[in-house]
Amino acid sequence: MSLLKTVSLAFIEHFHEKPRLVVRAPGRVNLIGEHTDYNEGFVLPMAIDRAVWIALQPRPDRQVLLHSLDFNESVSFSLDGLEKEGESWVEYIKGAAWAMQQAGFEPRGWEGVIAGDIPIGAGLSSSAAIQLAALRAFSEISRIRWDEVTAAELALKAEQEWIGLKCGIMDQMVSAAARQGHAMFLDCRDLRRDHIHIPSYLGVVALDTGTRRGLVGSAYNTRQVECEEAARHFNVRSLREVSPEMLAAQSAGLDGKLLRRARHVVSENRRVVEAVTALLGAELDRLGELVNESHASLRDDFEVSSEALDRMVGIAVGQPGCYGARLTGAGFGGCAVALVDGRRLAQFHAAVAAHYRQETGLEPGVYICRPSQGTSREAPGLRLAEFIRSGLKRGK
Ligand code: GLA
Repeated sequence: MSLLKTVSLAFIEHFHEKPRLVVRAPGRVNLIGEHTDYNEGFVLPMAIDRAVWIALQPRPDRQVLLHSLDFNESVSFSLDGLEKEGESWVEYIKGAAWAMQQAGFEPRGWEGVIAGDIPIGAGLSSSAAIQLAALRAFSEISRIRWDEVTAAELALKAEQEWIGLKCGIMDQMVSAAARQGHAMFLDCRDLRRDHIHIPSYLGVVALDTGTRRGLVGSAYNTRQVECEEAARHFNVRSLREVSPEMLAAQSAGLDGKLLRRARHVVSENRRVVEAVTALLGAELDRLGELVNESHASLRDDFEVSSEALDRMVGIAVGQPGCYGARLTGAGFGGCAVALVDGRRLAQFHAAVAAHYRQETGLEPGVYICRPSQGTSREAPGLRLAEFIRSGLKRGK
């Protein structure tokens, strides 16, 4: 059963009515352009066909009531005097409401059922998706016009200030504003973007190593500080402003570690632009080379890979039909992404899973991803007959 139908039916179970609407926000896989977003650089992510879904209806008061099918947990909070309490998934919903209030919007109360199929903590942006789904829910219920960029900025504010992770805007932008069938070439300096068609003969596969590393308080924040320090050395506002020539000419006196961090960001920005050109020209071998170079740079210069990620990438690139593979997202664990000949996907899937299991003893996740639409409002996935049937079952 589709998640659209699952949340719609579960809504009837919980609230004894048909939901007024359903909202959906996708996860993402980043094809190339890692750790460049908070350096005002370029990224090329793609929204995937895995998402967070909420079936809901408005409430007359200022309460939000929510049942999570994934956590089998019901929670409620008031929109008045929002306060952060712990690390639960509901903080992402509260954070979205808080960010709206901070920006002068007046979100109203609602009740809903939430479920998703994005693996949590795997680097596929389950957190941006839950925030975008919540923002869409609040916007629809409160009759606030949906604007993709505003939504992405509010989700970023929620992530940075409510959840406490000082990330860049890539995940929020792509979850909010992706187009079906396309990846998003995004300039994180001014949010200009271009939707780049992904041909059906190019398979995009997310490869979950089954290893996790929490982001908040991790080396992620250290990397940002290091990049800021390196930018100060070049006397620019962000590493985006450093060209390869500047890097070569002006790196004297820069600490070796900071030089490697800067070298990754500068070279990665160039690779993203080249990757877009390769995609547009259907030069898939070239695209694969760039993806492989990105992984090496993330491993050696930016130092955000892990043994499991290196293994996964090594296994993937060794398979017939694989153009290239690299870690995706923040790194330190989670997922890699592989670009694969669309005709070889089934073989690739089976071979990578078997090799990885054998070499590591870990259970991998292999997700063939379709480029999907950003955050959307959907009609509840129920036919009248299904609705009546589920009502009859409850003896209504
Ligand atoms: C995480 C962050 C993004 C980005 C990536 C690394 O996914 O949320 O903003 O910085 O890491 O590219």
